[in-house]
Amino acid sequence: MSKLNKINPEDLRSHRWYGAKDMRSFGHRSRTAQMGYHKSDYVGKPVIAIINTWSDINPCHSHFKQRVEEVKRGVWQAGGFPVEMPAISLSEPFQKPTTMLYRNLLAMETEELLRSYPADGCVLMGGCDKTTPALIMGAISMNLPSIFVPAGPMLRGDYKGQFLGSGSDTWKYWAELRAGNIDEQDWQEIEDGIARSPGHCMTMGTASTMTSAAEVLGLTLPGAASIPAPDSRHAQMATLSGKRIVEMVWEDLKPLDILKAASFDNAVRTVLALGGSTNSLVHLVAMAKRASIALTIDRFDELAQDTPVLANLRPSGKYLMEDFYYAGGLKALLSRVKHLLDLNQLTVNAKTLGENLSHAQVFNDDVIRPLSNPLLASGGLAVLKGNIAPGGAVIKPAAMEPHLRKHTGAAVVFKDYNDLSNRIDSPTLEIDKNSVIVLLSAGPQGAPGMPEWGQLPIPQKLLKEGVRDMLRISDARMSGTSYGACVLHVTPESHVGGPLAFVQDGDLIALDIEARRLNVMISEEEMQKRKNAWVAPAPKFTRGYGTLYLKHIQQADKGCDFDFLEPENLQNSTGEPEIH
Ligand code: FES
Repeated sequence: MSKLNKINPEDLRSHRWYGAKDMRSFGHRSRTAQMGYHKSDYVGKPVIAIINTWSDINPCHSHFKQRVEEVKRGVWQAGGFPVEMPAISLSEPFQKPTTMLYRNLLAMETEELLRSYPADGCVLMGGCDKTTPALIMGAISMNLPSIFVPAGPMLRGDYKGQFLGSGSDTWKYWAELRAGNIDEQDWQEIEDGIARSPGHCMTMGTASTMTSAAEVLGLTLPGAASIPAPDSRHAQMATLSGKRIVEMVWEDLKPLDILKAASFDNAVRTVLALGGSTNSLVHLVAMAKRASIALTIDRFDELAQDTPVLANLRPSGKYLMEDFYYAGGLKALLSRVKHLLDLNQLTVNAKTLGENLSHAQVFNDDVIRPLSNPLLASGGLAVLKGNIAPGGAVIKPAAMEPHLRKHTGAAVVFKDYNDLSNRIDSPTLEIDKNSVIVLLSAGPQGAPGMPEWGQLPIPQKLLKEGVRDMLRISDARMSGTSYGACVLHVTPESHVGGPLAFVQDGDLIALDIEARRLNVMISEEEMQKRKNAWVAPAPKFTRGYGTLYLKHIQQADKGCDFDFLEPENLQNSTGEPEIH
């Protein structure tokens, strides 16, 4: 038992299932015996729920069958009782229309698994994009001792001796194929070599961004997020996490003891210093709300003003997560921005963030840049406001061509994704490199699910002219592995009558990142006239989970959580079930 022990075996939540002398507990014990466990395996021991998002169709978690055994080994060794509980996997490459439609479903599943079963603590196994925020959102709402085991990035992709990055190089070489600069044979070799090991995307996409955020929030063992999935140190980390969660139960160390406003500020700073994904705005806002912390998208913009981008990682920079790990990993990066962090924040190992960074060291100054030579001195993300985005929109200045940071151009509007697919490469489309591509109906309700469509394709005829970046605007999200002058998360979305819905072909749109402005150059009277003529589209779902989603989903600036999952709707701190 831990030296910091605060609770006794009879205080364990699972004691209500196993410890009572009544008919129900007889049933629980006899059914546990049915699974081959003797009483000495579990009575008086913390029951550790291992929420495993493994699936045959999730390549990012393909090592989780093995890793879960390593977690269990740690739990057994520390005197706990491990119970694996599979949960929906949210496989980014395969699930349509988008995993974002199901993030809240996994969050609900996590919370309800923990609530309804005899869990004293939990290990959360995730990493592929939405799995990280979803698992953590559910665990925060249930507030049992929790530790996150990140899947770890896959190894660098390989093609003709060059490194390939997930997503980033797919977009890049797809554009080159469409421009006629590579052939089908090259494209096949890229397909074979870009994803060559277990693990999540190894660019600084949403997966690496969110697992890094989870680490700096204090929800993983120190250093966990940067370890490549196939590295034996990843297996060691899994075992150590299993050991540690048992101690955390005895210490009664819960997510709400760890997650404070300052720890979310630390997470935002970290995302910025990493040049992380714009998706982090939506997820961190939602995670903070579950902890009753009012994190706003404006806070990202405030902190971006003096946070340098130091990680030289694709899509903003040059390297990949494997290089980042060898350069010292997240701890090394954090050691370079210590002055911007609140180092007193508690973490799952009962030490502060500052204590965990005491031996951090950078081994490669080009991968993790010094403050004197940042990738970008500040402004990794920018939040824009204006008459087409009164609730805000986001852009990633680090991953776009600088000449577009202040730009005015005529809108070319696509009413939805099908319209975009059908017309973008049409030789008769009236568009040039100064045009502004606008996509409607791509937000939380419109798409629905706010898919990662925001890196709108550049028309083939302009690609052939050498154009590689244009101003693009939508209410969609963008893959964290993408790049380009893409204004995203326009709020409120067009589908619910946000003013983006009223933009028409030929309207001049003005972006000024430095001034944080995004406007369509039409009069208020004209805007009102178009608004009055606007007809609300029909809802996209009429049955099943989709109807629940459409009824309760909130806009991007609110984190796209369901309104009924906000903490004020909990009857008590845990919503504990009756056991009859
Ligand atoms: Fe799983 Fe990118 S596809 S993290």
